[in-house]
Amino acid sequence: MPVSEWLRILLIISSFVVGFWLPIRIVGYIPPTSLEVFFDLLVSAVSICSISIYFSDREISPRTLSNWLKPKLMMDLLCLFPFSLWFFFSDSQASNPFIFINLLAVRHVSQIKKFLDNFDDLSPLAYRLTPIFMTLPLLVHTISCIWIALGSGNIGPDPDATTTYIKAVYWAFTTLTTVGYGDISAKTSPQMLFTCGVQLIGVGVFGYILSSVAGLIARTDAAREHHMDNMDRVETFMRIHHVPAELRSRIRAYYHFIWKNKKGYNDHSVLSHLPDKIQSELYFHINQGVLEKVPFLKGAENDILQELMLELRPTIFVPGERIFKAGDPGDAVYFIHQGEVAILNDEQHRVATLTEGHFFGEMALIDDRPRMASAVSVTFTDLYVLKRDEFKKFLRRHPHFHQHMNEVVSARRAG
Ligand code: CMP
Repeated sequence: MPVSEWLRILLIISSFVVGFWLPIRIVGYIPPTSLEVFFDLLVSAVSICSISIYFSDREISPRTLSNWLKPKLMMDLLCLFPFSLWFFFSDSQASNPFIFINLLAVRHVSQIKKFLDNFDDLSPLAYRLTPIFMTLPLLVHTISCIWIALGSGNIGPDPDATTTYIKAVYWAFTTLTTVGYGDISAKTSPQMLFTCGVQLIGVGVFGYILSSVAGLIARTDAAREHHMDNMDRVETFMRIHHVPAELRSRIRAYYHFIWKNKKGYNDHSVLSHLPDKIQSELYFHINQGVLEKVPFLKGAENDILQELMLELRPTIFVPGERIFKAGDPGDAVYFIHQGEVAILNDEQHRVATLTEGHFFGEMALIDDRPRMASAVSVTFTDLYVLKRDEFKKFLRRHPHFHQHMNEVVSARRAG
């Protein structure tokens, strides 16, 4: 991990700690001077980390003065001042007005998002929830501290500060979530106004969290959602067009097959936005299994297979569907990935049954004549289609396979 990322971790942790400390300090806890100086140094550390990350992220030089004239950097430079040394000038350390400026350092907690960008394999759930669960405690803590500063509402004096704080956190949660049980309620006008503000924030914050979580839960099974959406649309379409019951059940069976075998994704369009190079590697990966099953391609060199695979396009036929009929012009060769295909002669007699790993439709292309038989899908059949031109190009480039193909054709013709 580069140094800038280590600095980012330090920045996130430090600003988180400062975010807890400052509200406590501001609402009236007077710390020993050493603690005050420690946190002042921590704020300065936050600023230094932030400034160095700023320059390294943008790859610009800190030696150029104009690069420093940015509001973000100004805020960090401001936080570098040792505000804790206020006591040298004032009798009352409690009323240090400059301490508020240090709150600017807390905003760096948001760097968590940039840090998470380093992890390519992070789940979307972790990516979205981690920043929320980092900022939420800070928000609740700040609201609780302000509530304490405003007098903690109608609840009487507490035995100790911890109880006061716990009650304030409880109030902050119930008000933020707009549950508001009413056991702790606003008494004075500032408290009432503050409560209104917290409720408004709550609507936004918890609305965002709830919608994010609901969205994430819905997306955890995106494939099923996609399938369900598809089915809803198909069912509506069939209802509007009064599709006969028998056809409806065949259509449903088709979608069921697609769902079982390909999790609802029948085409490769989902990944069509990928760069060409990655797409071809992807097709290679997807189609590899298909050609491995074709006996006469066994042992073929990888680049030959790769060339062939890039041209294969998947298609599905339902039981009883005709793939082509005798006499049709030959436009493609078919490789069977899954399922069963019957080859029928002119009298509709089955001359062959082809299954996984077999191919058909090559004769019309080799001999340049129409189809000599019909092909009908017996089951749901998962086929890969190689278009005529690509098939011919492949045979021209690899005479060895041309020869082999001729042998298959002769054997089939004889059979
Ligand atoms: P084609 O003539 O293009 O279209 C029909 C296809 O059925 C044919 O190519 C062959 O691929 C296939 N075919 C024909 N006869 C047989 C057979 N006896 N055994 C296996 N396949 C055959």
